[in-house]
Amino acid sequence: MMLIDGKKVAREVRGKIAAEVARMVAAGERRPHLAAVLVGNNGASETYVKNKVVACKDCGFQSTVLRLPESISESDLLAQLAQLNADEAVDGYIVQLPLPAHINEQRVVEAIDYRKDVDGFHPMNVGRMSIGLPGIRPATPQGILMLLDYYGIETEGRHCVVLGRSNIVGRPVASLLLQKAFPGNCTVTVCHSATVHLKEITRLADILIVAIGSPHYVTADMVKDGAVIIDVGITRVADDGVERGYKLQGDVDYVNVAPKCSYITPVPGGVGPMTIASLMRNLLELRRLKRENKL
Ligand code: GUN
Repeated sequence: MMLIDGKKVAREVRGKIAAEVARMVAAGERRPHLAAVLVGNNGASETYVKNKVVACKDCGFQSTVLRLPESISESDLLAQLAQLNADEAVDGYIVQLPLPAHINEQRVVEAIDYRKDVDGFHPMNVGRMSIGLPGIRPATPQGILMLLDYYGIETEGRHCVVLGRSNIVGRPVASLLLQKAFPGNCTVTVCHSATVHLKEITRLADILIVAIGSPHYVTADMVKDGAVIIDVGITRVADDGVERGYKLQGDVDYVNVAPKCSYITPVPGGVGPMTIASLMRNLLELRRLKRENKL
């Protein structure tokens, strides 16, 4: 069994981005600038945004966090996004999800100028991805593909089973692995909460990607010998034994599943760090696509 070290790969990706940014700045270009919109005080969101700010610093990007109160109205939030869309000094931005219940998330995602949509969530970017046009790919799926590529994991003709159909992970990763590309060219099956005979299907997977947010859901009997396991779950589970009061758990029963696999991502330290590295790459990609008039 080989451990997929997302921390190490993400560090290398960030190093390459930093070198590219240093070249751009030396050539007189403006430093790439990422903005993050954080609404309310969701603990996990605060952590994610903090990690993104640190990553920006590592990569040589400028970053700005726009903190908005939980009580902000949808129209006031949309007005803030219109300002970011118009701001020439901002190359791309994210609106950290989830948003408070009184705000329509889809309306917010569609209000982001798709040419600044570093998350790749706007329907224009989703559509472009699904038909294989240049554009921004959602960070977590792209990070997963970067890991498959880095470890030279064969994907062509292999059966990839995706557990979960979210817009952030399940659907886009299935779409990318279906494309005639490397990594890609897989036979893809997407399973979800209404799937029957789940175990029979997951046992067919050469590559099993799990993104359901249910700790230790995938057990050893659901996995074929020699499968590649990508665990996207990061659920906070209470743990009095550690200072911060919780630990992170993946969707896979790692201890029992790992001995059966050819490759597996740990939680933490697998897919998580790649999501952020991939987001950083997207900001550079937005600059390039705009420069080359491809977006
Ligand atoms: N919430 C959980 N994951 C993500 C992500 O990748 N982007 C944003 N904007 N919010 C999230």
